[in-house]
Amino acid sequence: MSAPADQAHQPVMVSEVLAYLRPRAGAWMVDATFGAGGHSRALLEAGANVLGIDQDPRAADHVAALAGNAGAPGAPQEVAGTFLFAAGNFRDMERLARSFELSTVAGILLDLGVSSMQLDEGERGFAFRADGPLDMRMTATGPSAADIVNEAPMEEIAALLWRYGEERHSRRIARRVVEARERAPIRTTGRLAEVVASAYPGGPRRTHPARRTFQALRIHVNDELGALQEGLEAAARLLEPGGRLVAISYHSLEDRIVKRFLNDSPRMVAVTKKPVTPSEDEVQANPRARAAKLRVGERSAS
Ligand SMILES: C[S@@+](CC[C@H](N)C(=O)[O-])C[C@H]1O[C@@H](n2cnc3c(N)ncnc32)[C@H](O)[C@@H]1O
Repeated sequence: MSAPADQAHQPVMVSEVLAYLRPRAGAWMVDATFGAGGHSRALLEAGANVLGIDQDPRAADHVAALAGNAGAPGAPQEVAGTFLFAAGNFRDMERLARSFELSTVAGILLDLGVSSMQLDEGERGFAFRADGPLDMRMTATGPSAADIVNEAPMEEIAALLWRYGEERHSRRIARRVVEARERAPIRTTGRLAEVVASAYPGGPRRTHPARRTFQALRIHVNDELGALQEGLEAAARLLEPGGRLVAISYHSLEDRIVKRFLNDSPRMVAVTKKPVTPSEDEVQANPRARAAKLRVGERSAS
C-alpha cells in the first residue's frame, strides 16, 4: 500500500538544511529538487519565499498543498512565505527563475537523486525490488533503460556500468545482458535484476547485486551527472553575493562533483570542508538518509 502523498517522502537533514540556508522573511530560495515538497515546506514555515523546481511531472501532485498557502487543502496554516512552482530541469534554473522575474536568490537547495515515490512506484522502472517496465526516465523523453539494455553494444553497456555504477563486474554483467536479450528482449526491472544476479559471483552480500547496475542506468538515462554539473554552475550565477547553496548527494559520483565544484568555482567559497552527515537518530528513523552527504557553498562577494 502506498503512503498518502504528503507522507510519501521524508525530507532528509531538514534542520541542517535550515541552519545552513538561513531562511528569513521575504528572502527567495530555490528548492531545485522539489519532490514531495518537504524541504520547501520547512523553508516556507521559516518565512522564506520558495520557487520549487522538479523535472518529474508527478511532482506537481504535491504542489497544491503549498501553492495556495494558508487555506489550500492540506496547507500548513503557519506557512508565511509565497510558493511558486516550475516544472523543468534544474540545469535551466536561471531561465525558470527569470520567468518569475527572480534575477537573484538568497539560497538554493539540491537534494539529489530519486524520491521515495519514484522508487516505490514499480511502473516507473527505477527499482530492482518492485517489478515494472524497465524505464527509469524522470521525464517521458529520450531513450529508456530498456532501449539501452536491448540496443546498446556490449562494450557500451559495460562502460556505463563501470562509469556510473562503479560496478566491478561490469563486463561480466554486460555479456550476460547481451546473451539474455538475444533470447528475448529485457522489458522489466524484475528480469534485468535476475539477469544481473545470475552474472554475479556467488556468496552472501549486504546489498542486492543489481543495485549498482540500476544506479548506473538511471544516471545515464537521465544524464544526472551532466545536469548536476550544469545545475551547480547555474546555481552559482543565480545566487546573490553571500547567498548559499546546499547540495545533498547520495553516492560518491555526485558528491565528488559537488566537492570539486565548491573547491574550484571562482564564484563559490566552500562553507563545509567535510560533508555533513545525518544523525544516528535520523538514520534510524529514515534509513534512506544513511548515504546522505550535505555540502554547503557561499557565493563570493565579487
Ligand atoms: C530526493 S528527491 C527530493 C525530495 C524533496 N527534497 C522532498 O523533500 O520531498 C529528488 C527530486 O529531484 C528531482 N530531480 C532529479 N534530478 C533533477 C533535475 N536535473 N532537474 C529537476 N529535478 C530533478 C527528482 O524528480 C526528484 O523528485
